[in-house]
Amino acid sequence: MNDASIRTLINGYRQGYSLEQPFYTSSEIFDFEWQHVWKKYWLFAGTTAEIPKPGDYFVYTLQNDSIIIIRGNDGEVFAHYNTCRHRGSLICLEEKGHAPKLVCPYHQWVFEKDGSLFKARLMPENFDKSAYHLHPVKITAVGGFIFISLSDYPPPINQLETDFSPFLKPFKIDDSKIAYRKKYTLRTNWKLIAENFRECYHCGPAHPEYCSAVIGANMKESADEVLAEKKVDWQNKGLATETVEFTDQSFHFAIRYPLRPGVESYSLDGRKVAMPMGDHTDYDAGVVGMVVYPNFWMDAVSDYMWTMRLTAISASCTLLDLCWLVDADATEGKDYNTEKLIEFWRITGEQDWKLCENNFKGIESSRYSPGPYAPAEYDVVKYIDWYINRLKEGIRSGRNSFE
Ligand code: FES
Ligand SMILES: [Fe+2]
Repeated sequence: MNDASIRTLINGYRQGYSLEQPFYTSSEIFDFEWQHVWKKYWLFAGTTAEIPKPGDYFVYTLQNDSIIIIRGNDGEVFAHYNTCRHRGSLICLEEKGHAPKLVCPYHQWVFEKDGSLFKARLMPENFDKSAYHLHPVKITAVGGFIFISLSDYPPPINQLETDFSPFLKPFKIDDSKIAYRKKYTLRTNWKLIAENFRECYHCGPAHPEYCSAVIGANMKESADEVLAEKKVDWQNKGLATETVEFTDQSFHFAIRYPLRPGVESYSLDGRKVAMPMGDHTDYDAGVVGMVVYPNFWMDAVSDYMWTMRLTAISASCTLLDLCWLVDADATEGKDYNTEKLIEFWRITGEQDWKLCENNFKGIESSRYSPGPYAPAEYDVVKYIDWYINRLKEGIRSGRNSFE
């Protein structure tokens, strides 16, 4: 597929209908969206709970770029390209670890956590170390969520910070811990997972467990009355309640919505599964949900948080990294049982992963044609509009920045 045919496809987008097949299957479209969505926007990398101590690090791989995210000496978080300034070797070979200093395994150049070159053995006396800082990656930590951008000029993230902070503060993510993590490699296009998570049209038939926890998820009952009542309770407790909607120029969303009356947590029996997280003192905070395009989804209840990092590997392959976070003081076996903690989202998630893989297989058919979204899928339409507008911007600018 050449540039002209990509342009024709993008300009031919029919709003309210699922996308044409190549948007889900073509490697050329994938490369185009990688340049104009993934390399321009903010990407969720992980949480500060993953790197509690100075020198703790993890590596996030995005196509050819491997990024080191490391905790500095004063609690700050740095991100560097994982490519040595000597001859380019990977520096960190493990997915996570602890390093007082970053030492390249090839010729042992040593870098500080902030990326500055500390030592380069056997180099000439007058060698200027200051010219060989690790290449930095833009990074922002928002209430414990770490976002990076591969662009030198990413879009402003200050509105997201303002909007997310009141929702995140009570969870005290910096003082939380990862109770469990799980990866899935799915044979599907990343946008099909994003679409799946923007609608509950499928929830009634697909998610019996989810529908027994969340009022209104089955689309057969209204949550309005419960929501109105709960909103007053939440506001009295100082909890954020105002939904942050997507706009065409924004890329984040936040909401608090109620669990079914009598349900304390996202669990199969509706009972709490851990001690309240952070500043929460009861099990009545409902569900906080957040989205950041293109790669972050999360849900949190009073006693735990579930985060999903989505990484596009190719048009037909998507990697999901899921984490379950609990309060740092919670002890496994005493304050929570891992199986009970994870089973609700393991089951619900796996129902979705199957749907997304089936969706992809069906789209690969020679007879696939775009179909109309239902009224209940209005958020999917908004999402696809956002995506198409980013590609249109890509056509217009041809540049990889927000200069
Ligand atoms: S490539 Fe890293 S020290 Fe040589
Ligand atoms: Fe779902």
